[in-house]
Parts: sequence; C-alpha cells; structure tokens
Amino acid sequence: MNTHDSVFLKKFAALIAGFIVLSLLMLLLAQSIYRATRSTDVPPELAAATEARIAPVGGVYAGQSGQMARAAAAAAAQASAQAQVAYDGTLDGAVIYDNLCKTCHDSGAGGAPLMVRSAWNERIAQGMDVMVQNSIEGFTGAHGIMPPRGGNPSLSDEQMQAAVEWMVDNLD
Ligand code: HEC
Repeated sequence: MNTHDSVFLKKFAALIAGFIVLSLLMLLLAQSIYRATRSTDVPPELAAATEARIAPVGGVYAGQSGQMARAAAAAAAQASAQAQVAYDGTLDGAVIYDNLCKTCHDSGAGGAPLMVRSAWNERIAQGMDVMVQNSIEGFTGAHGIMPPRGGNPSLSDEQMQAAVEWMVDNLD
C-alpha cells in the first residue's frame, strides 16, 4: 500500500465514522422531538372526525331476517313507550282505581278515606277541581298523606280526573 492509499483510507474511515455519529445524533434528536410533541389524548373533535372518516359507507343488508329484527325492535320500542303511559292511557276511572287507588282507598291504609259517602262529604264540598288538584299534586291532610298521582307519576291529569270522578260516583 502506498502512502496515498493509506491517507485516503484514514480520511475515508474518519468520514464513515463521522456519518455514523451524525446518524446516531439525528436518531436521538428525532426521538426527543417525537417525545416532546406526542400527545396521548386525541382531542374529541379530532377523534369524531376520524370516526366519521373511517365509518363504513353502508351496512350489510341482512335480507328478510334483518327486516324482521328491525320490526321486532320497533315493536319493543313501542311497547316500552306505552309502558310510560299508565294503564295504556285508559280514561276508565274504574281501571285506574282498581290498579292503584284501591290499595289505600279500599283498606283505609295510611288514613285514606274509604269509599263511603260520610268520609267524602266534606271533600266533595270543596269542589271537584280542588279534589282533582289535590290528588294530582298530592297533599297532607288531617288523616294522612295522599301521594302525588297516587304514587304513579305516569298517570296523566286527565286520568287522575277520571279516577276521582269515578270514586265520587261510586261511593257507598
Ligand atoms: C298510599 C295510599 C294512597 C293511594 C295509593 C291513593 N291515595 Fe288518595 N288519599 C290517601 C290519603 C291518606 C288521603 C287523605 C289525606 C287526608 O285528608 O289527610 C287521600 C285522599 C284522596 C282524595 C281526597 C282529596 C281531597 O281534596 O280531600 C282523593 C280525591 C284521592 N285521594 C284520590 C286518589 C286517587 C284518584 C288515587 C289513585 C290514582 C289515590 N287517591 C291513591 C292515600 C292514598
């Protein structure tokens, strides 16, 4: 090997070593930039936008069985909506009375006036509006506590009116 070659080799080796050091430095720099800028929690609006972007374009049509599942779901939803209306929304005072009011007003539980005229004369004298109002809002009287709507909040005002009218019409 002549001196020319050995000088070249030394310089070339130094250059290679320099490149290796440089690339290591760049690696560390990249890593530290990544650590500094990485955020773990994605902002919700960004997440929502991403979800929207990658959402499937359409669902699988499951044919007749899919339609039946949808119909069953709709029927179930309707049934649960109906359950929100007490006793299917009946305006038959007897039905409402038998299902609820009776528990107190047939037994006198908690001081509830029984279905006898003597217990109701003074109440009837207040007028129907006051009695209905009291049964809707609930009230505490001399005898006990009448809970709002007899304790069933899904009874409508009209249903309460019907129940009170039925009670007054059916006193012994
Ligand atoms: C938990 C027992 C209870 C239930 C259930 C109940 N009531 Fe009463 N109710 C009472 C009591 C107790 C009173 C009497 C309160 C008093 O005068 O001290 C009363 C009083 C009343 C009065 C008289 C109001 C007035 O102005 O004097 C009406 C009307 C009435 N209830 C209607 C109903 C109707 C309608 C229902 C069913 C939807 C019902 N109640 C269910 C306990 C009950």
